Amino acid sequence: MSATETVLLKGGLIVDGSGATPGWPGDVLLKDGRIAAIGAALSDAGAEAIDCTGLVVAPGFIDVHTHDDALALEQPDCLPKISQGITTVVAGNCGISVVPLRTTEPPPPLNLLGRTAFRFESFAAYQAALQAAQPAVNVVSLIGHTALRFATMGSDVGRPADAAELARMEALLDEALAQGAQGLSSGLFYTPAAAAPASEVLALARVVARHGGVYATHLRDEMAAILEAMHEAADTALKAGVPVIFSHHKCAGPANWGRTQETLPLIDAFAARQDVGLDVYPYLAGSTVLREDLVDGVIEVLLTWSDSYPEMSGRSLADIAAEWGVDQQEACRRLQPGGACYFQMHEEDVERVLAHRLTMIGSDGLPHDRHPHPRLWGAFPRVLARYWREKGLFGLEEAVHRMTGLSARQFRLKDRGELREGWAADVTVFDPRRVQDLASFEAPLRRAEGIARVYVNGALAYREGAAGTLVRAGRALRRGLG
Ligand code: ZN
Ligand code: CU
Repeated sequence: MSATETVLLKGGLIVDGSGATPGWPGDVLLKDGRIAAIGAALSDAGAEAIDCTGLVVAPGFIDVHTHDDALALEQPDCLPKISQGITTVVAGNCGISVVPLRTTEPPPPLNLLGRTAFRFESFAAYQAALQAAQPAVNVVSLIGHTALRFATMGSDVGRPADAAELARMEALLDEALAQGAQGLSSGLFYTPAAAAPASEVLALARVVARHGGVYATHLRDEMAAILEAMHEAADTALKAGVPVIFSHHKCAGPANWGRTQETLPLIDAFAARQDVGLDVYPYLAGSTVLREDLVDGVIEVLLTWSDSYPEMSGRSLADIAAEWGVDQQEACRRLQPGGACYFQMHEEDVERVLAHRLTMIGSDGLPHDRHPHPRLWGAFPRVLARYWREKGLFGLEEAVHRMTGLSARQFRLKDRGELREGWAADVTVFDPRRVQDLASFEAPLRRAEGIARVYVNGALAYREGAAGTLVRAGRALRRGLG
């Protein structure tokens, strides 16, 4: 397979990802894996010319919130991603990463990543394996606080780390960052990290600051105590001197619906004093491991996987409980270990978050689930179809910016996220009238429509109508190097 071609994308609407330049009709020349030229009526004798009339030519989409650490290694075609126009993923979110823990029995929530990829002695070894697997998309990696805890505390994680354990976590994180990891993530919401005080995370965030990395967090609470949790995260980042990213921002549970009217102004207030960002996926349901505390008997819960009853995947917890003649809590216990979608958000909150000026798009897709949340295959096309084209929540340039330029800036990615001469040739060409997510909660494994062509580092990785991924040209990206 040819690594890169010289390609002239002619006559498309160029939406450059900056969010500042209105789309304009022009040509883009890709050469040697880079964007060689952008302009009107370009020509290049050696280039393959592609007519892009009626199509949008945009930077490749950056999925800033993923759990693709193992996917990129084990299913390097990354079809759920490349078929959405995604050319770069940020893995290792929510405190969950395959580095530095080594085990064949990953405890929850690390088991969201499957169980076979926890085998690397260092971040460099993981990246070498990734590079050898040659994924279709570029992979940026965060190191998970929860993974650091298990690696240093064993199974005894229901308490703060002691001084020696914390020093060991700092050393492991320091090593991974020196080898090119992009930053730290935490998932204080999850039991194995919930016992960690803010001071533990602060010590680690200080290590991140030394390397110029970022800190992304799944807050300690996204329900009643969300404001306190946001203050904790922002204060930690401010003290350490690192940018903070609020992951999959939401106000979860009917009692908290409407409270984005409190959280978003708080983010604005933080932004006046520090570097903050946030990401969101465009759905009303969240998805994670099965947890009794999220099963309230009110919201709908859809089973995405269960080790004890795999055949129940895709069914609602209420149905399963009725069939068994038990309450939903008991059904939840019997189905463990497992995962679920929780219909815990309100449309108005989702729209308010999507429309915020600092919001990036992140799928939070869970690639190992048997019946996954549809965000795995549909998040990015859904933002374009439902929230740009149908609802007009933002303009096209702004929609693309939230998937590209803003994401690269907030995550400190070099030479990506915008169409600029000399930058990496990650390019997504889509049909603005047809782009549409087809994955649904009932049928989640369906590819989106209207993603015409996807180039990764200059190579044609995906074309609408092709049976699958065409070329795998992604790279394991290292912080500051690209
Ligand atoms: Zn999370
Ligand atoms: Cu996540």
